[in-house]
Amino acid sequence: MKFLSELKRTHYCTELGLSDTDKKVVVMGWVDTRRDHGGLVFVDLRDRTGLLQIVLNPKDPALLESKNFRGEYVIAIQGVVRARPQDMVNKKLPTGEIEIEATLCEILSKAETPPFKINDPKVHENLRLKYRYLDLRSSRLQKNLMLRHKVYQVLREFLNKEKFIEVETPILYKSTPEGARDYLVPSRVNLGQFYALPQSPQTLKQLLMIGGIDRYFQVAKCFRDEDLRADRQPEFSQIDIEMSFVDQGDVMELNEALMRFIWKQVKGVDVGPIPQMTYLEAMNRFGCDKPDLRIPLELTDITELATGCGFKVFDDVSSRGGAIKALAVPGAGGFSRGQMDKLTNLAKSYGAKGLVWIKSNELGELTSPIKKFFEDNKFSEIFSAAGGKNGSAVFMVADDFDITCAALSAIRLHLAKELNLIDTSKDSFLWVIDFPLLEFSAEERRFAARHHPFTMPSDDAVEGLLSGDENRYKDLLAKAYDLVCNGHEIGGGSIRIHKGEIQAAMFKCLGMSAEETEQRFGFFLEALTYGVPPHGGFAWGLDRIVMILSGTDAIRDVIAFPKTAKATDLMAQAPSIVDRDQLQEVGVRLNTQAEKVLEKLDKNQVK
Ligand code: AMO
Ligand code: AMP
Repeated sequence: MKFLSELKRTHYCTELGLSDTDKKVVVMGWVDTRRDHGGLVFVDLRDRTGLLQIVLNPKDPALLESKNFRGEYVIAIQGVVRARPQDMVNKKLPTGEIEIEATLCEILSKAETPPFKINDPKVHENLRLKYRYLDLRSSRLQKNLMLRHKVYQVLREFLNKEKFIEVETPILYKSTPEGARDYLVPSRVNLGQFYALPQSPQTLKQLLMIGGIDRYFQVAKCFRDEDLRADRQPEFSQIDIEMSFVDQGDVMELNEALMRFIWKQVKGVDVGPIPQMTYLEAMNRFGCDKPDLRIPLELTDITELATGCGFKVFDDVSSRGGAIKALAVPGAGGFSRGQMDKLTNLAKSYGAKGLVWIKSNELGELTSPIKKFFEDNKFSEIFSAAGGKNGSAVFMVADDFDITCAALSAIRLHLAKELNLIDTSKDSFLWVIDFPLLEFSAEERRFAARHHPFTMPSDDAVEGLLSGDENRYKDLLAKAYDLVCNGHEIGGGSIRIHKGEIQAAMFKCLGMSAEETEQRFGFFLEALTYGVPPHGGFAWGLDRIVMILSGTDAIRDVIAFPKTAKATDLMAQAPSIVDRDQLQEVGVRLNTQAEKVLEKLDKNQVK
């Protein structure tokens, strides 16, 4: 075998161009396509940089092997760079002006016929996930992973310059509450006990500040057992950052600068000043705390206007302190009954009891299923107050504030996509600040931390937290801030509680008993007694950033080996059954419910 021992690769495919004409080169890669033409074999050779045309004469004794080339074979070629005849130039390829006239070739590895053609956009994602290593050969995924690599380089360059130290924190650790369920790992050495994979390195990075590291960052793997969506994976990466002796403005400024640097270096785009909006304003105007500002639609509060009109639903909601909001959507005035029913179902899936609308035709004539309840004047007043124009529809929901907001926000997003109202020519950034510190979980009948339990209350909320007065909890604000890009929360952070008594009050307010606090966070509360610098930080959703930078809308496209919406890996078949012995070793026995599921699984596999 000449190649690899005597003949080394000299170039990647697309490193070659006209200026290399007559150069002797060695290239290696996969056969993308192979064509026979008038006794010559043409191969498009593929490596991670792209395609390069090779011409081989199979009658040449040194090139006999080329007769056997098939798609996805791995081959090595020695040859000479030649300019293509003018009429053979392929303008679509970066290497379209040249080809390699082969002088020597070898098959390094054969390939079965792959289950799909690399780069075929029509292949079902599940098949591509099963053969992820084949899909990784596609230019799309290669480009995304290279972009991700660039983001790693750029963020390290920036943070290193800003005096941050990269520190790794453990994966086998203790529960860190970020609002999801933990992934647990049984311990063999300490039978009956479990590690929890970190939902984020939150307590660890704070302990690093207590440890005097001053400025920390890490590309951190985080694990969260939660419902998955297009921009959520059970295991994902954060650019995790923590800084000492800072206030909220310092942390936001540094992170904004980092984000600017990434966008500039990776996309070549100058991100202008990033606007800030309070949580309450975001909810009121857009119905959500991560509004996509590229959508030119806003909600209007019509509680006052719509009350007392005789429509019982509205009056009831208003009398119990709920919110009635409206959303005007241009171009929706001609929607059919069927379309409206679909939208009503969408609103209902967010907990709304229904959806009402006022439609206007191009002449400005208004129709609505609830027209009969309103005086004519009032009716058009509501329509125009919401910003309705000829040809628009105004959608209305009445419910508790959160439900009204969630339902209309979903309608806003859905219709913006359907009616093509999103200005995709630019990325839109927004800081959301002044989050509530706590939120009431009706299900658990207790308060939960809106961000996480280590977030510092705003200056005038500290006293309210320490007071232990539950009636005051819902109005307390936090020193927390999120960064939103194109409707995705791409990062979030806060100033931390650095005083033991405030932290203890926080745990108490979350309904944790003294014993539970001691068992889960005793070590942390103790650490807070040994001299803690005021500190704060931030965590970027690295995968989401790369997703936006690469222009895809699925987080799976920027992760080498992602999981499905059911948190499975279709390639390696994870999670999977383990040996009974292995379970015994770690002191775990399956309950009857799990056994039943496995039994069913077994039967299905036999079929
Ligand atoms: P938070 O929970 O907001 O904060 O997470 C920070 C960022 O991580 C990203 N993210 C996710 N990305 C993909 N899949 C997921 N399942 C997922 N969950 C979160 C989001 C989010 O903005 N410790 C705090 C940060 C801090 O306070 O410093 C934390 O983890 O882009
Ligand atoms: P109903 O009186 O329940 O038949 O509802 C009459 C209309 O009002 C239907 O079109 C419902 O979808 C709508 N509706 C019901 N409840 C609400 C609500 N809370 N907010 C907005 N529309 C509603």
